[in-house]
Amino acid sequence: MIGKIGLAPMAGITNWSFRKICFEFGAEFAYTEMISAESIIRKLKVNEYYFPHGEEKNKVAVQIFGSDPYVMAEAAKFVENKGAWIDINAGCPVRKVVRKGAGSALLKDLKKLKKVIEEVKKVVNCKVSVKVRIGFEKDEFEKIYDTVVEAGADMIAVHGRTAKQMYSGKAIWNIKNKGYIPLYISGDIYTWDDIENAISASNAEGVLVARGSIGNPWIFSGKVPTIKEKLEIILRHIELLYSEVGEKAPVEFRKFVSGYTKGLKGARDFRARVMRINNIKQLVKEFKDYFLSLEN
Ligand SMILES: Cc1cc2nc3c(=O)[nH]c(=O)nc-3n(C[C@H](O)[C@H](O)[C@H](O)COP(=O)(O)O)c2cc1C
Repeated sequence: MIGKIGLAPMAGITNWSFRKICFEFGAEFAYTEMISAESIIRKLKVNEYYFPHGEEKNKVAVQIFGSDPYVMAEAAKFVENKGAWIDINAGCPVRKVVRKGAGSALLKDLKKLKKVIEEVKKVVNCKVSVKVRIGFEKDEFEKIYDTVVEAGADMIAVHGRTAKQMYSGKAIWNIKNKGYIPLYISGDIYTWDDIENAISASNAEGVLVARGSIGNPWIFSGKVPTIKEKLEIILRHIELLYSEVGEKAPVEFRKFVSGYTKGLKGARDFRARVMRINNIKQLVKEFKDYFLSLEN
């Protein structure tokens, strides 16, 4: 929608501090974590945490999930000025989401998916995108694509797996792209080559990078950092996270430790130590000591 390489939505990962780091390395747009439409219309205060911050507002889409077209529309109306556009989650395979008819469950009921998109489009002035998988049990992407286009969505992003597959197998990049609206590819994007290959395989507008960015934000720049640069980013990430979540930062940062230390000498022992730390100063010290030992 606004570029070629975006940061995919990831619940529990793509909060403000991580988005900021990824933007600094060249991500052109991003999404919030998925936010429940029900919780939005109940105006739960906790949602403030998820909404984009001022300086990133023009490049972060607010992703909402739900199953009732009118609840989705009301939620969309409420958040339409909080981000750059609205994204509808029609891909989440997690059981507690699917059981309620939301996320990838919408792929089993394309009439419902269409209605959700139409009702949202009716009430908002911003653009509306939809993030899907290629199908629920089997690949039905062509039907899904037609539904999304007919409903009037402005963009589609597809994770090249079925919901049933969850994260197993290899994501497909060779997606039939009829070209009516911009199409973005998601799934197994880990390198700069993957980005180029995924785009050319389906003549896509661009890609969304998900797991490949966790502890590896330089995937967006395509440059491999030195040990010193890596440490700088880690410390900056910890600092930003601390300003966002306070004392919870060391625990939250655990999600990124494995990515940031992948392939480094002695990483296993280091991780085992760091994963037990609850104190921010100690966390910073451990990282500094470890990276200095690697430099020497
Ligand atoms: C931890 C995690 C959380 C995710 N949360 C969301 C989400 O909130 N909304 C969404 O549309 N997709 C979500 N996804 C799916 C990703 O956006 C992406 O489509 C998927 O991980 C495939 O890309 P990858 O193989 O490059 O990781 C999540 C994925 C992961 C790993």
